[in-house]
Amino acid sequence: MELDKDVVETPRGFRCSLCNVHVANKPSLEDHMKGRKHQKLCSMRAVRRCQEEHSVYVSGFKKNTCQTELAQYFQQFGPVSEVIMDKDKGHYAIVQFDQKGSTEATLLQAEHQLNGTTLRVKPRERKEFKMIPKKRQDFQNLHQVLDWLKPELCQTASVNEQMQCVVDRFQLGETEKKARGLLVQLLQEIFTEFFPDSQILQFGSSVNTFGIQSCDLDLFLDLENTKVFQARAKSSTEQTGEAMSDDDLSEDSILSDIDLSTASPTEVLDLVAAILRRCVPGVHKVHVVSSARLPVVKFHHRELNLQGDITINNRLAVRNTVFLQLCSGADVRLRPLVYCIRWWAKQKQLAGNPGGSGPLLNNYAVTLLVIYFLQNCEPPVLPTVDQLKDMACEEEECVIEGWNCTFPSQPISVPPSKNTQDLCSLLAAFFSFYAQFDFAGSVISLREGHSLPITSFLCPAQEEGGKALREEKPTKAQVLTPKLGSVNLLDPFELSHNVTANLTERTQRNFQRECQEAEKYCRSLQYQRKSTKGKSWGLVRLFIPHGEGMYDNSQDGSAEKELTISIPFRPELLPELLQSQLHQAGDLFRLLWFQKVCSAVEKVFQKILMCRSVSSAAAGTEEMEPSTYDVGDDVESWTKGAATVGSKRPLSPNGGNTSVSPQGKKPRLEKEVKSDLHLWSWTQSHMVWAGRRKVKRELVRDINGRPEAANVELEVQVTENIVNKEPEVRNPLEFKVQAQIVGGTQSTQTKLKVQPTSDDTGLFQDFFHFLEVFLPKMVAILLEKEV
Ligand code: UTP
Repeated sequence: MELDKDVVETPRGFRCSLCNVHVANKPSLEDHMKGRKHQKLCSMRAVRRCQEEHSVYVSGFKKNTCQTELAQYFQQFGPVSEVIMDKDKGHYAIVQFDQKGSTEATLLQAEHQLNGTTLRVKPRERKEFKMIPKKRQDFQNLHQVLDWLKPELCQTASVNEQMQCVVDRFQLGETEKKARGLLVQLLQEIFTEFFPDSQILQFGSSVNTFGIQSCDLDLFLDLENTKVFQARAKSSTEQTGEAMSDDDLSEDSILSDIDLSTASPTEVLDLVAAILRRCVPGVHKVHVVSSARLPVVKFHHRELNLQGDITINNRLAVRNTVFLQLCSGADVRLRPLVYCIRWWAKQKQLAGNPGGSGPLLNNYAVTLLVIYFLQNCEPPVLPTVDQLKDMACEEEECVIEGWNCTFPSQPISVPPSKNTQDLCSLLAAFFSFYAQFDFAGSVISLREGHSLPITSFLCPAQEEGGKALREEKPTKAQVLTPKLGSVNLLDPFELSHNVTANLTERTQRNFQRECQEAEKYCRSLQYQRKSTKGKSWGLVRLFIPHGEGMYDNSQDGSAEKELTISIPFRPELLPELLQSQLHQAGDLFRLLWFQKVCSAVEKVFQKILMCRSVSSAAAGTEEMEPSTYDVGDDVESWTKGAATVGSKRPLSPNGGNTSVSPQGKKPRLEKEVKSDLHLWSWTQSHMVWAGRRKVKRELVRDINGRPEAANVELEVQVTENIVNKEPEVRNPLEFKVQAQIVGGTQSTQTKLKVQPTSDDTGLFQDFFHFLEVFLPKMVAILLEKEV
């Protein structure tokens, strides 16, 4: 396909300069070109071109000349369709003709006279047609922000200055803050009319010191006092049999339609939406989102070009906003770090869910990750939430919905940090910290300032579990546990809320990979030193969008990665019984899980894919031991005779390169779990991967309607089918599989290195690509099935 003149190819795909849109590939590009937006802009551009060709630019006329006079004068060259004069001063006019020929005739005439003065008549300037983004999009479109901020950032003297510059350019200006304040005041007045004694409070980026220009306006409508008011009104009516006076509750008050003590959030929000629609000037696009974790009314304010959200049960958010303000005040380095890391995360497509929901980090989560990192610096930059609680005085004690939210009200109560690192090195340290973080094995707790083993959260109702929960909220702990996910970041106050529960495994992987890339980049001179040749340096390169190849080292280690299959530790997907075993295993949970994974891997090769094991001598290994797994009779019978060779290293309770302390060893497990490394050697004489899908389809048709649970048996049958029907390959494929558990300084996972030892027929690559998908899927099924 020949590229349209509006389209340019970029390292990330294609860019349509007309619509200012990026697409990843040709099919998406084709869709875009056929789409409504592109088509509409094309036709607008055509109209604009036509207007340019049909009109002339006129100036030099007397001050009071009107449009009619100009139209009458230019009629002599052809019918005039429109005369547009500049509104304010009347210095120039655009005279538009019906026909293009009239324009040419006008321009051919050397001189034009009107009311005794000589007019200047020129062809229209051909301006490039571009979609002009609305003001709001300016700061949301970070690609563009980088373009216009780049020269300024490159001219600063240091990364520290660059980071300060980002804050200065992004932060909410005083005028914008005032305008928001006025809108909140107006809303307060209007809501008080309908909900007496109600209070409207700002939270989130508008007021938490991390707001950027045109960020959302998050509001909490506190109806607690209104409920009291309503209850009082009700009981007084019952007692006296009379309605309340005008001052208290008028008959047509909205409160007479609803009982706040029993109404559902959606019912109340519907009312709020109706008030916004009918009574607040400038507000439009009002709608209720009742499916959100906290139902919300969304609106847009036309003049302020502002997106607003109103919730009615978000007292904790107001409090955590004050907490963020406190942290900002406690150490001035927090703000520049948060602004830069939020921008970086958006550029790398790790943060910024459109419309507030999606699989990426939200801004609150990014901010908490930065605070947690600062709590873990040596010496710490910020205290833990528990330490803050101890710094508070009695009057500052605060419990909301049962959660302890106590901390000092003034930053002055927080002793200054002894850490003297500058912004440049802290930013680099942030990336190193999370590049090596064991997301899968830990739950991040800002309250304690360290991570808690994930196993404590697998069975929190049990004796040892849910420590973090029980301390603060003994009653809720029994029933409320955070939803575990790929990243587990506990809210500092609502300890049953995982702020990153929405993240997918892919986001977690991308986050960690981007941190690793950024860590490497931060070690380079390009990060640390201003370029003397005017090249991009420091933050500018760091902020280059995902996929546009800012780092020169992106190819590192690719050959090795190609032959490694990773099985991530996803405890929340494991069956309950196994979760409970892992919980009991404590620090040894990684080895226990690894043992189960190895058992499953062995089954996949031996039983499902019918590979034959090779003796250790043939595989060239030093030692040989019988199978070490202890996962039930069923598995034992399956694994009998498998050439499991391993125990290359002494037992490490924390797995490979872990950093978790081995306290609380479980002797029984230690006896069972022999190694954090396993090696197998196998041969395969059939192309069991080729045509599997087809064979499976045929088998499923034969055994019509078999449930999904029959997956393992079905896969065994598929292999049998292939082995029985297809001829053996000329020279069997021989390969080694080495399994290793890693965790502690990186996400807990089993890494399987698969290497050919004999591949005369060149089949290994195909086999490996098949295994990449097949093996993790089957291991997951087997882990579940086994329990
Ligand atoms: P956001 O993630 O929207 O952060 O959460 P933000 O700083 O306001 O950023 P933008 O500009 O609007 O995107 C808004 C507020 O909602 C509360 C926090 O108070 C946060 O500041 N919140 C958010 C929670 O309490 N819990 C969450 O899980 C998410």
